[in-house]
Amino acid sequence: MRGVDEVITLEAALEASRREVTSHFASHVNPPLKSLLALIGADRRYVRASGATVFDEEGREYLDFLGGYGAVNLGHNHPELLAALERVAERPNILQASINPLVSALAASLARVTPGRLAKTFLCNSGAEAVEAALKLARAATGRTDLVSCTNSFHGKTFGALSVTGRARYQDPFRPLLPGCHAVPFGDLDALAASLSARTAAAFIVEPVQGEGGIILPPDGYLAQAQQLCRDTGTLFVLDEVQTGLGRTGYLFAAERDGLEPDIIALAKSLGGGVMPIGACIATDAVWRRAYGSRERCLLHTSTFGGNTRACAVALKTLEILLRDDVAAQTRRKGEQFIARLRTLAAELPIIKEVRGRGLLIGIELQVADDAPRWAREYLGAAVCGLLLQEHGIITAFAFNNPNTIRFEPPLVVSEAQLDRAASALAEVCRRCRTPGDAAVQLGRTLLKSKVRRLFGTAP
Ligand SMILES: Cc1ncc(COP(=O)(O)O)c(C=O)c1O
Repeated sequence: MRGVDEVITLEAALEASRREVTSHFASHVNPPLKSLLALIGADRRYVRASGATVFDEEGREYLDFLGGYGAVNLGHNHPELLAALERVAERPNILQASINPLVSALAASLARVTPGRLAKTFLCNSGAEAVEAALKLARAATGRTDLVSCTNSFHGKTFGALSVTGRARYQDPFRPLLPGCHAVPFGDLDALAASLSARTAAAFIVEPVQGEGGIILPPDGYLAQAQQLCRDTGTLFVLDEVQTGLGRTGYLFAAERDGLEPDIIALAKSLGGGVMPIGACIATDAVWRRAYGSRERCLLHTSTFGGNTRACAVALKTLEILLRDDVAAQTRRKGEQFIARLRTLAAELPIIKEVRGRGLLIGIELQVADDAPRWAREYLGAAVCGLLLQEHGIITAFAFNNPNTIRFEPPLVVSEAQLDRAASALAEVCRRCRTPGDAAVQLGRTLLKSKVRRLFGTAP
């Protein structure tokens, strides 16, 4: 008979030592990732989180300026979201042969709050799945096969989403990808017009601000004109608001700033309030009906967990809180002040090349000389993130597609004092790191000190 001692119980997992945790991770999850996290000292164990703050097992407090890459806009463990889970604890979570009242309510709410005339929602479990749903819907609705996207974009790592992601490093090991996908430079309307002119594209998919690409803002007017080009050529205009949505850029949806009316929107991340995984693909009635509007076609695209009760309960409560507390307007105000402060720092500190952002989606690009060695070009961002973490308790990350851009993406509930603390920490680190070499040496020293402290209980 198989025994329960074959598995690690939840209770034991919660109590496991740091050594056990890292050893299981290295043996059974991802050894190089474990080493990379250790390299910047990010292999610590966090045991408590609330709002923009997390605590490690030694009781040290950290500020989370990574914000789950946009998944915890309302902060960690928002009490009203945890209460929403409690509220539905006795309901069936998954029961497909029924109409779930929370699915109906969430879809109706999304139709009301999203821009333009979006009306029909498909629920899934992640951003990549929301993008998959959008791409399939576009093909099924138009009968066309081509998909146009942007270079330097990020739409997720499933096959379809990866096929429209503009990053060869993620794509190359998995080729051949979906046929008919074409990338045009972000911001280049002539290239887009040329690509759509054959009228074979089902959709043009674009992020309102490129997130993983390094927080790249489009030129003013680009998105509205791209939308018009789509209309003129019968191409569906798909906005990927997985990261920009739900208040992040200072608007409930980034589309609102430019008065856009997309045919389809992909949403995920903070729709689940950082508590439950959920994604949504929301389309206009006309588009949806052309794709799936008959009994034969209404089940063409489905997901077992899509629309489960708990995820929907949290999503409904998330929307309610975002609107009730006017989180988007607060984010706009905090973001403007914070970006202005960071730009002042950039003017004083040569290692900061540029500060870009909208709302609290902010990228700080570091200066690396063109002839700098490869390690400096690839790891300066990581070294600065490591110092921010080790010395100031600020959790950040660099952009996947642009490793010298550090992302500041705190929960939108972050306080002004916490924003001040992060800006001062960045200034302190950047003052000491005039070159990539300085940053590497400083981080090495700090990590060594912390290792000695862990081993002997005292710093050298
Ligand atoms: C714009 C955008 N689209 C899609 C995705 C993929 O989301 P997920 O990781 O939930 O699959 C991301 C993730 O970072 C994203 O930023």
